[in-house]
Amino acid sequence: MAHMTKRDQFFHEIRKLLDDQVMFKLILSKPRPGVDARSAMVTLIEEDGVRQFKYVEKTATQHFTQVVPYVAFYAYLEEKLTHQFYYCELFSEQGNGALLQNQKGTATFIRKKGTTKVETASHNREKDYFIAEDSPFLELLGISSTNGRVFEHANRKYRQINKFVEIINSLIEGHAQTLTIADMGSGKAYLTFALYHYLTLQKGMKVELTGYEIRQELVDQCNGYAAKLGFENLKFVCANIEAVKIDAVDMVISLHACDIATDMSIFAGLQARATYMVLAPCCHKQIRKQIELRNGILKHGILLERQAEIITDAIRALVLEDHGYKTKVFEFISAEHTSKNTMIIARKHHKNDHAALEIKDIKETYGIRFHYLEKLLEIKY
Ligand SMILES: C[S@@+](CC[C@H](N)C(=O)[O-])C[C@H]1O[C@@H](n2cnc3c(N)ncnc32)[C@H](O)[C@@H]1O
Repeated sequence: MAHMTKRDQFFHEIRKLLDDQVMFKLILSKPRPGVDARSAMVTLIEEDGVRQFKYVEKTATQHFTQVVPYVAFYAYLEEKLTHQFYYCELFSEQGNGALLQNQKGTATFIRKKGTTKVETASHNREKDYFIAEDSPFLELLGISSTNGRVFEHANRKYRQINKFVEIINSLIEGHAQTLTIADMGSGKAYLTFALYHYLTLQKGMKVELTGYEIRQELVDQCNGYAAKLGFENLKFVCANIEAVKIDAVDMVISLHACDIATDMSIFAGLQARATYMVLAPCCHKQIRKQIELRNGILKHGILLERQAEIITDAIRALVLEDHGYKTKVFEFISAEHTSKNTMIIARKHHKNDHAALEIKDIKETYGIRFHYLEKLLEIKY
């Protein structure tokens, strides 16, 4: 390989990956003079067993997508790295690397530490992304780089953000162009910023979103970010959810707020007659302590814990149904490696006349004295 230039070595590597059908992805950056595009991302896509490359080029304001046949890709890449971009990062299961070229025509090919597991995507996958990778809030929150690319380590969070926005988008279909939202336990507020960004900048809605968070430092940090982004109607307030009183609101969100904080959020939503509630509960301790039933399943701690989660969330959904909501319980993408990924969404509808009886039945079966919502609502099922 001594006679090869560094650029040749890079293309030799690409040729080998193509011939061996090894999965890889590329990120092209550092545009050549006069080129509008800032960067481009190349991923492998597979449909009906046919592999092709998807090339997504980004300018400051737009994305252009082109699908390149597998056999034509090598020449296509050569062209791009000769006329449009200087840099190309390579990620593959066989090793990562980067081709760095400069204006003088000098090239370096460096091998980086580590390997990257690359998966093929279906052709339409990008369409699922409601939030563009180069959205300014993603950079500010440390999810995307200054080049507008989502960091490798933040991919899971990015997918979660997109899934969340997609869920809310379908939930509010047909809603008026104004929306007030209370986010209970907003934390670092990745999802909150995403939602505000999507509804205001992409859907053109008039939104007032308030995040309630008990930790003052997070409140200050998020207010700082909102100001930097010019998100005028997004604000964060330091408060305990328990003490938050909202007169009226269209939507209450409570994502991964701990244990009974979810119940406090539901209670606040009921008091405020919210049209929508979006809940991703976590840490279900309150019910677990009360379950009296012990059988072949519940004698195992882990199964008892899972059962407690199921019961807690089932009763939450039923309480909402008893209060005139239609609910859906399903799996939400978790950003952390945790099984706590259940989502409950509720939309004002009409009362489920069987809900109260169903709650009573669950409580009796498992020997549960009270669900925290009963305490808050001062009712006994
Ligand atoms: C796991 S974080 C989730 C943050 C954000 N909602 C998300 O899903 O990315 C939970 C947040 O809720 C806050 N929290 C928990 N209990 C609370 C309460 N009673 N009142 C206000 N904030 C609370 C915590 O301080 C923490 O920042």
